[in-house]
Amino acid sequence: MELNNKQYKEPLELFTLWFDQAKTDDPDYHHGMSIATVNAKQEPSVRVVFLKEYDEQGFVFYTNYNSNKGNDLANNPNICANFWWKTRQRQVRISGVVSKVPNEQSDQYFHSRPRGSQLAAICSKQSQAISSFNQLKENYEKIVDEHKNKTIDRPAHWGGYRIKANRIEFWQGLEHRLHHRLVFEMNGSDWHQHVIQP
Ligand SMILES: Cc1cc2nc3c(=O)[nH]c(=O)nc-3n(C[C@H](O)[C@H](O)[C@H](O)COP(=O)(O)O)c2cc1C
Repeated sequence: MELNNKQYKEPLELFTLWFDQAKTDDPDYHHGMSIATVNAKQEPSVRVVFLKEYDEQGFVFYTNYNSNKGNDLANNPNICANFWWKTRQRQVRISGVVSKVPNEQSDQYFHSRPRGSQLAAICSKQSQAISSFNQLKENYEKIVDEHKNKTIDRPAHWGGYRIKANRIEFWQGLEHRLHHRLVFEMNGSDWHQHVIQP
């Protein structure tokens, strides 16, 4: 088991190993992560998004900046993301602070998406109420018509957030619930690590 057999100086190498293994186990959904945000009334909420890119600079997901999560993050940029990879009994928890990715990066990802998803991003006022699901479908068809034979620009309300991690916990489920928990914490510009009890 990797956590026992190798010393990691920083978390990204271990994250990459686990992420790649999760991808082998579940190519379609390994990158689904729950993200927790807190609103102005200090109420937490959690939902799943897809991790689309990551590197030393952080972990990137894309969403609607005017959604509930977008409003939460505008007010409080602290975020916590959690992966659960059941096949290998693993959990990774990433705590950090978000910032919006540069517009060019959001443009690039937006244009890599299927046309239908691009149009849905224009159509959906994510998190806002609508009179019915049929109304949503009508709105969508209207937007499809309006954009026939046109290139689609990324709407300004849609883009990426990068999570700059300050703590990453790796959890390996083991026998007798004697799980191995390895925590990396950013101290200044260095990662420090310690094991915590299950
Ligand atoms: C597997 C899965 C992946 C999802 N990926 C995304 C995503 O990448 N971006 C996104 O905005 N919503 C994604 N969603 C929808 C969110 O869970 C959520 O419903 C939506 O972002 C609205 O959240 P909010 O109202 O809390 O802002 C995904 C849902 C599931 C189940």
